[in-house]
Amino acid sequence: MTRRETWSGRLGFVLAAVGSAVGLGNLWKFPYITWHNDGGAFVLVYLACVVVIGVPVMMSELLIGRRSERSPVAAFATLGGRAWRKAGWLPVVAGVVILAFYSVIAGWSLRSFARCLRWSIDGYTPPAPGAFAAFLADGPAQVGLALAFLALTALVVVRGISGGIEKATRILMPVLFVIMLYLLVTAASLPGFTRALALLFHPDWSAMQSHGILEALGHAFFTLSLGMGAMITYGSYLGRDTSIVRISITVAILDTLIALAACVIMFAVILTVPELETAMSGEGAKSTVGMLFVTLPRMFYTEMAGGAVVAPLFYVLVAFAALSSTISLLEVTVATAMDRLAWTRARATLAATLLVGVLTTGCAVSLGASESLTRMRLFGRFERLDTIVTRDKTGLLAIFDHVSANWLLPLAGLAVTMFAGWALDAEDALDELFPGRRLPGWVFRTWRFLARYVCPMAIGWIVIDVIRGGDFS
Ligand code: PHE
Repeated sequence: MTRRETWSGRLGFVLAAVGSAVGLGNLWKFPYITWHNDGGAFVLVYLACVVVIGVPVMMSELLIGRRSERSPVAAFATLGGRAWRKAGWLPVVAGVVILAFYSVIAGWSLRSFARCLRWSIDGYTPPAPGAFAAFLADGPAQVGLALAFLALTALVVVRGISGGIEKATRILMPVLFVIMLYLLVTAASLPGFTRALALLFHPDWSAMQSHGILEALGHAFFTLSLGMGAMITYGSYLGRDTSIVRISITVAILDTLIALAACVIMFAVILTVPELETAMSGEGAKSTVGMLFVTLPRMFYTEMAGGAVVAPLFYVLVAFAALSSTISLLEVTVATAMDRLAWTRARATLAATLLVGVLTTGCAVSLGASESLTRMRLFGRFERLDTIVTRDKTGLLAIFDHVSANWLLPLAGLAVTMFAGWALDAEDALDELFPGRRLPGWVFRTWRFLARYVCPMAIGWIVIDVIRGGDFS
């Protein structure tokens, strides 16, 4: 067998892992759910979830990956034996399902970028009401954009770890940080800025509901790229001289900072324009896509000095963030095919892209273009089952989103922590987490306690809540 590829260095790995973590989850989903959970208290709960659950689970994933030097299915089998192999498929399936719908939404950033470029050159003309809905129902546009995004992803993945993924994220991530900083500085000059900070950092515990706690937990998984095998796979290329503890903490901090910055920027905008604030507080605000792709462009051009420069830049940022995430998602399937079938990277990339491409196409036309896919239910005539499993979601994209956030991620996350906490030998885990044992013993004991008891119980709580009718998508 050829030697496994590795990252060229610590920085390269950190940027790739941060690239995977920072994505539409930070820029699109987090601001949206924070807004709907009334800020402050929700943010604190979310931060607690990242620290208590997110970081230990990330450590577990990286550790499983590096110990086995394999992608999820093989990693579980190598370290835990046959019985665990099946559990290793969960993250892989979750990754494929997420990539299928994620590519569609990521594709919209390409369209927004093109439109903003045109507006910046020719001047802004407000889109007709209903224009976005018409775009959603435009099959060729949806399929074209989603497949273009997937192809872009495949082009990076096929070049391998240090030559493709690492090179791409080395450019993407620093550019993303700079654009974000520029947006933050611009947002600080908006009248709504102080109110935005107050909303985010002044906890109002009376607004907090138990459902919000679980939503925060589910999102901590999604945003840190956990439960999808991405960190197991990236960890499998990690050299032995890097501290998994330090890396996990770094990734979690950077991911959280970007998510908070995205909130500050969007809230400052929304709270500056009274009309927007009303629109975002009403029923219409239920549409999750609105905030990022419809409300923001208008504000860039009508409310913000320098908006003509900021707007296209902003969508470059969204596209970059999404791309470094889709790269890690595709890599999971590619690495699985390479490990299990001994395929070359090129062959595995082609096959994985084709498989995901078919599902993505289905998702892309399930927003209005294809009548049957838009109206489909997962279990068709079995209505009770539909209510329990998908909360009666219709349309392939909505079903994929729902099933992954509510079922696949929590279950895969449960498998990962149980595996790391219970199936792995304690000596092995210690050796892997702290090569050379340079870290104090209590860090290890805390991690093990969290991985064995706290994380599985918290995730178990999500699963039970989902069964009883919660919804995290
Ligand atoms: N963490 C990414 C985000 O926040 C999504 C993602 C999940 C990427 C899983 C890779 C793996 O958008």
